[in-house]
Amino acid sequence: MKVLGIETSCDETGIAIYDSEVGIRSEALYSQVKLHAEYGGVVPELASRDHVQKIAPLINKVLAEAELDLHELDGIAYTAGPGLVGALLVGASVAKGMSLASKVPAIGVHHMEGHLLAPMLETPAPKPPFVALLVSGGHTQLVKVSDIGDYEIMGESLDDAAGEAFDKSAKMMGLGYPGGPLLAARAERGQAGAYHFPRPMTDRPGLDFSFSGLKTFTLNTFNNSDKSEVAINNICRAFEEAVVDTLSIKCRRAVELAKVNRLVIAGGVSANKHLRSKLTDEMQKKGVEVFYPSLQYCTDNGAMIALAGYYRLSQKNLQIDSKIWVKPRWPISDLAPLER
Ligand code: KG4
Ligand code: ZN
Repeated sequence: MKVLGIETSCDETGIAIYDSEVGIRSEALYSQVKLHAEYGGVVPELASRDHVQKIAPLINKVLAEAELDLHELDGIAYTAGPGLVGALLVGASVAKGMSLASKVPAIGVHHMEGHLLAPMLETPAPKPPFVALLVSGGHTQLVKVSDIGDYEIMGESLDDAAGEAFDKSAKMMGLGYPGGPLLAARAERGQAGAYHFPRPMTDRPGLDFSFSGLKTFTLNTFNNSDKSEVAINNICRAFEEAVVDTLSIKCRRAVELAKVNRLVIAGGVSANKHLRSKLTDEMQKKGVEVFYPSLQYCTDNGAMIALAGYYRLSQKNLQIDSKIWVKPRWPISDLAPLER
């Protein structure tokens, strides 16, 4: 089966073709980072307009590189949510328009299911049951995955997502945009132990997170420092350690509670080197295998949407309506298990 994936939920236009015989056949990604940098965050209206400009040329490029005609596809998958409504509607309208013109079915898929399944593009691929730690700019969730589509949220952030805390902390210290990778790079140059940050909500049972207090702690520590390069690097190091440690404590609890020996980490923050290595080391000691996507599939991309679309399109008794629909808010636990 050959599926075109279209991702436009936020500030990346991601297009890819997944072929169930060979894997990803071609892909293209356009990031709007420069467009939003001067505002220090994503401006929804600008994001939608830019998707409109970029989407058609990228789809043509990806089809040409895969040497495929639109009619040779078995399906088109677009991100239907969660995300920015205007940005989502660009992908949805283009997908449904292409479908009308070609009779190739177009299906709306869940952005976070895309992230969750992205490690399945790697070898070896994780097999359910497993626990997934989804850490992105909009979400921090621990999900028990009994099967593809069978998702139970075990815990989630009560306020800021982990990526959001990285981005906002970086912005407060004037590190630039997007802050996550910039803060992580500064943390690498920082000295461990120079500051100690709290590990929020780890002193009580449960799997929920809260990262907004860490942001305030970062701002206070920064304001009380001499704001030198060395101090900033050390603050970044302490901040990253606190986030990684907190995530790792909750992952340990989650795999114990779910009684599984596989952990998947996915979403933009899973690109963080420190998080990847700490979780791999910690889990190895417990006999738990850790899976994560290759770096280009941690942050938003079309490949994960094409893959999620492939799973959804290969279901028995598949029914697709021709309506153009998006769901800006859409809990992953609302998805139905795959019918095989
Ligand atoms: O999954 P993603 O591309 O978009 C959403 O669905 O939100 O995640 C983007 C988030 C941003 O908050 C970004 O700062 C964060 O992932 N991120 C990182 C790193 N790379 C991206 N955070 C920490 N360390 C990184 N290396
Ligand atoms: Zn994402």
